[in-house]
Amino acid sequence: MDTKRMIELSDARIMTFTKRQPVALVRGEGLRVWDSDGKEYLDFTGGISVTALGHCHPKVVGTLREQAATLVHVSNIFHIPQQAQLAALLCDHSFADRVFFSNSGAEANETAIKLARKWAKQHGGSDRGDIISMHGGFHGRTLATVTATAQEKYHHGFEPLPAGFKYVAYNDLKALERAIDSRTAAVLVEPIQGEGGIIVPDDGYLPGLRKLCDEAGILLILDEIQTGMGRTGKLWAYEHSGVAPDIMTLAKALANGVPIGATLATEDVASVFTPGSHGSTFGGNPLATAVGVTVFSTLIEDRLADRAAQMGKVLLQALEEIRAKHPKAVKAARGRGLLVGLDVTPPVGDVVTACRERGLLALTAGDNTLRLAPALIVSDKEIGQACGIIDTALKATAP
Ligand SMILES: Cc1ncc(COP(=O)(O)O)c(C=O)c1O
Repeated sequence: MDTKRMIELSDARIMTFTKRQPVALVRGEGLRVWDSDGKEYLDFTGGISVTALGHCHPKVVGTLREQAATLVHVSNIFHIPQQAQLAALLCDHSFADRVFFSNSGAEANETAIKLARKWAKQHGGSDRGDIISMHGGFHGRTLATVTATAQEKYHHGFEPLPAGFKYVAYNDLKALERAIDSRTAAVLVEPIQGEGGIIVPDDGYLPGLRKLCDEAGILLILDEIQTGMGRTGKLWAYEHSGVAPDIMTLAKALANGVPIGATLATEDVASVFTPGSHGSTFGGNPLATAVGVTVFSTLIEDRLADRAAQMGKVLLQALEEIRAKHPKAVKAARGRGLLVGLDVTPPVGDVVTACRERGLLALTAGDNTLRLAPALIVSDKEIGQACGIIDTALKATAP
């Protein structure tokens, strides 16, 4: 099917839930992808922080092939060796004692909310159920997680929204202190706001959250769906802060693109789930968790979190140079590891288009931020090429 016909079909038959760019990507290798007309791009979207090992990493392809030919799916009513192995790896490398597997970030957060509410009822009283989340945050599109996503634009038209959610400003400990009351079960927060515009909070923010939660006897849930798996230069973004959460949610990079979600918790918190508390047909099936084991082991063996820290510095430095060169078009460059944002003054959609036309795929975040989240295996050369393209794209879109 030619590209024009394919796009017509897609526009006619797929529900209009997002604005698509007018290309179809059909093949990938490392940081490169090719569209249906054979044009090559440098992928600095990483499938929105998903393909941490790059496209078609040989070990991921090998595990997928082998597991597909062995056993794709069995129900969670049976033990699943790959699931147990991935859970053990995640616990060995984090604060957590137990894991629940699902299929997406939203589901991982739904699980976290259910877990926190059940724990709070058992530990604080039957009216404890409120989840406090932060303005500008993003936690998913299911009804509960979109309600936890404190951004009006995502709520509009979907009312009535589920009860039991409150919002406070991000990076504002005083506001949180005022909002916590006898009905609060947990605080749900991203260590760095991704979709909200790559907002890095003050160094004292996470320790402050931990302290407020401890004082109030409530749980701290960290949504590391975008920041986890080495992206910020540590395996988990909470490691930058010196404190750990009670619950952490993962998805995106955990199986490099094979759908998976995970909710990690301490033994104390996890113990409130008993047979029948929760479930998922696909969650943690042999295919997804076999790939998860390969991805996680590769991440550790190849020290990709360290690499993200190192290459993140190279990227941020190059973006600072771009900012100095385009003082009118670029207001700020910021980020941590390979989760980086550039605040631009031309409409960010125009910058993304200009980049794409020149062979670079990039993302937007927040109101006018160009977001870059390349695979953690990105090279100096690829960063140089990407920044060269951003430079010319900014010239082309200058007002
Ligand atoms: C921080 C965060 N939480 C949750 C989600 C939702 O994940 P999913 O789209 O897999 O449901 C996202 C997706 O962008 C995210 O960035």
